[in-house]
Amino acid sequence: MATKMRPSLNLAIGCCLLLTSAVWSSPTGAPLSTCNTLMPMHNKAPQTSNPPYQLLPSKGQGRIRLILGSPEGDGYEGFIILARDVETGELVGEFNNLPETSARHLECTPGLKNGVTHVKPEKIHNLEIDWEAPADYEGTIIFNSTICKTWDVFWVGVESPRITVVKRSIDIHSTPPTITFPRVTTPPYYTPTTEIVNTDDDNVFYDGCGATKNCFGTPNACVEQKNCAAAVSVLVKGEQYIFEMQSRNSKYVAVGLSADNKMGDDSVVECINNDNQVSLHMSWNDGKKNIRIPTLPGAIESISSSVQDGIMTCKFFRNKLTVVQGQQFDLVNTPYHLLIAIGSGLKEKSVGYHDIARASSGETRLLSDVSEGLVASSELLVRIHGALMLASWIGTASVGILLARYYRQTWVASQLCGKDQWFAWHRFFMFLTWSMTIGAFVVIFVELESWSSATYHASIGLATTILSFIQPFMAAMRPHPGAPRRILFNWVHWFIGNAAHICGIIAIFFAVRLTKAKLPEWVDWILVAYVVFHVLTHLFLTFAGCASDKQGSQRVNSFPMKDVHARNSMTHPDARRDAPHSGLRKLVFGVYFVVIAVFALALIVIAVLAPIGDSWNAFTDSFKNY
Ligand SMILES: *[C@@H]1O[C@H](CO)[C@@H](O)[C@H](O)[C@H]1NC(C)=O
Repeated sequence: MATKMRPSLNLAIGCCLLLTSAVWSSPTGAPLSTCNTLMPMHNKAPQTSNPPYQLLPSKGQGRIRLILGSPEGDGYEGFIILARDVETGELVGEFNNLPETSARHLECTPGLKNGVTHVKPEKIHNLEIDWEAPADYEGTIIFNSTICKTWDVFWVGVESPRITVVKRSIDIHSTPPTITFPRVTTPPYYTPTTEIVNTDDDNVFYDGCGATKNCFGTPNACVEQKNCAAAVSVLVKGEQYIFEMQSRNSKYVAVGLSADNKMGDDSVVECINNDNQVSLHMSWNDGKKNIRIPTLPGAIESISSSVQDGIMTCKFFRNKLTVVQGQQFDLVNTPYHLLIAIGSGLKEKSVGYHDIARASSGETRLLSDVSEGLVASSELLVRIHGALMLASWIGTASVGILLARYYRQTWVASQLCGKDQWFAWHRFFMFLTWSMTIGAFVVIFVELESWSSATYHASIGLATTILSFIQPFMAAMRPHPGAPRRILFNWVHWFIGNAAHICGIIAIFFAVRLTKAKLPEWVDWILVAYVVFHVLTHLFLTFAGCASDKQGSQRVNSFPMKDVHARNSMTHPDARRDAPHSGLRKLVFGVYFVVIAVFALALIVIAVLAPIGDSWNAFTDSFKNY
């Protein structure tokens, strides 16, 4: 991947600015070396006194919350913070949850958010950011920083206490920070707080799941692993229904009671995190739209709520009998599907789109029935849609287009059902493409029941479907070979077919970004590999075609839009001969066919088994830092 060049911020003055711009404007290795020394290029010597600042880590689940502050209350205008493995000296992990107005990522390793710096030369007093260890990382780290009080007063190498990271638990040691830069004054200024104990396993939320209460969460199987991004539990004590919801790093968590496993006519209760103040609201799913409704008297009653280390928990009673928007919700006698959703944004009078995660339980259940855990619905139709679209646009369309473009003068000696081989097979593959696309299109409408929010995926997918839909009708009306309008037809047919193919591939790229598809980001790379392979094959065959034309007596391949067979279709098939290099072309086709089949199958498996992202992301993340 190319180094991402950030436009250096237009900060002409201020501490550390030169460092920032030096990092990002230097075309070659500079970023790494600057990240290495932590030295701002201010032509000034750093302070040798003890810094009036401290980096205070506190433990969260798999994360560390880091506070850069000053016990003296001194502000600072600039800073750089990195996390280093003490043993190897390598940068580890990534920073997130940066306050936009005061901090931004510094990609010491391009593509990795492994550094943090300020955004403007304005005094900051308290900065809170999160640091996340790579999955499976084990080791000891130190946060190392340079902090600039002003442009010429700065401290280099301000370190945090040591932090031991073992899988799924983080300990902060009370060893005093060693400040490595020469210092005159003696006692370490900052003695860190005592060890913070590992609380990973005592998330009480999950206690009793499947035994005394019903629990449901996303991603799949997270309740057993106690690591849900969002989860709800319902405890029934006599006549009391106690709901508890928990979510990680979200602005809200919402739980709906639904007669089916889709949005629409559901009574929803959501907990909203407004600057760490949790509030409880009721809302209604009007179709795919969630609308806030006034909390009905006696319907819900908050018990407790909290936000800690990005984990929001809220607990409330829900009346066993409520009438919401004219519909009765009877928790005692009616089984329900549970819907859960979390998102990163809020609207003025409702929650934002559930962009982080959503799930619905696969079966209805009386909330008091705790016989077995609730399992998410499989979203079978979404998977079928994905599989069909991948099979048609990665698979059959690619092969069919290749045949029509380069294989008109190959396998000419034999015919299939009275048609040239290339034509018979082109028609076969395109027919498959057409049927699968229409099928996938119908299936997704059955699932969504409406033209849902106009995402890029939906719009481009619609364009793909329309283009491919008209293609066979146009082909059926084509003029005879040799007719004057035939070349025009060939070009239009070529253009629409290729446009549909390109739209189809772009729509697949956008599908990777849909929450519903639950696809891991690295699927992008498989798609990129497919595109590269496809384009290279086309280039190769185009050049091979030119070479073949030069050698052959007929100039046939260079302009496939002319119907070459118009001339010799009168002759008996046996008398016709392939254009030169047909052996090579056949070989290329064989390889292309197999590779495309592998691409299509791999992608279909990923799409059907999704979400497999979590384990794979962890797996691939573990390589990033080595
Ligand atoms: C922190 O940074 C300073 C200055 O670059 C360096 O001398 C020191 O060794 C670093 N500390 C660690 C633990 O990497």
